Amino acid sequence: MKFVIGNWKMSLNYEQSVNLAQKLVSLVKSSVNTVAVICPSTISLADVAQEIKKSPISLGAQDCFWEDKGSYTGMTSPQILADLGCQYVIIGHSERRMYLSESDEMVNKKIKKAFQIGLIPVVCVGETFEQRRNGSKDAIISQQVIKAFSGFSSNNQLPIIIAYEPVWVIGSGQAVASEEANHACTIIKQAIREVVPEKIVNDHVYTLYGGSVTKDNIKDLLSQKQIDGVLVGGASLDPEHFNSLIEAV
Ligand code: PGA
Repeated sequence: MKFVIGNWKMSLNYEQSVNLAQKLVSLVKSSVNTVAVICPSTISLADVAQEIKKSPISLGAQDCFWEDKGSYTGMTSPQILADLGCQYVIIGHSERRMYLSESDEMVNKKIKKAFQIGLIPVVCVGETFEQRRNGSKDAIISQQVIKAFSGFSSNNQLPIIIAYEPVWVIGSGQAVASEEANHACTIIKQAIREVVPEKIVNDHVYTLYGGSVTKDNIKDLLSQKQIDGVLVGGASLDPEHFNSLIEAV
């Protein structure tokens, strides 16, 4: 199974989000081995859900809170996301880690709650340019993965999606070399074995690459053994471009 996940971030207004969903519905064809997911902003989710209801496109959110109900002003309930039709939720994107000081502990709590509700988490990990320069890249990625999944319940049968997103590459227009992305995905699969049973890793873990994915580099990236799909920002905002990524897979 391969995943093409579009992260619309806060790039579109409400009307543009609904329009993009409508265009994608007319373009995207169903496929047995490729899962196409779009992650609109929280405010647009309900209406985008209606647009894509009868299409092969799945819905994801860009974040959720670690409780499903209560006095948590401004938070997004994972239960409401599931009720709206979301199947996926991005957790721990570097922009949230950077602007909202989201920690590995918060990421861990969100992942646990997502699994409990039945949402498939798309967990983002990746190093900064400085961490890459000083040679701590592999250690950083491993630590992020281990902390994210510590205390994992082995009853879980949902897919576990982890996206390697080098922070310095996001939105830069230049993806890392596919061999480097493949190496990072190998590190992720090694690290998660420390906290998740071997059988679950073998059957349920998918490693994605994210960071300036385009129709020009997707084939090269996906030719790598450990890359099970892509998490796409900029190129997911253009319906033809996003559909060409799905078709390339
Ligand atoms: P990008 O964003 O494709 O625009 O680099 C990827 C992401 O942040 O998930």
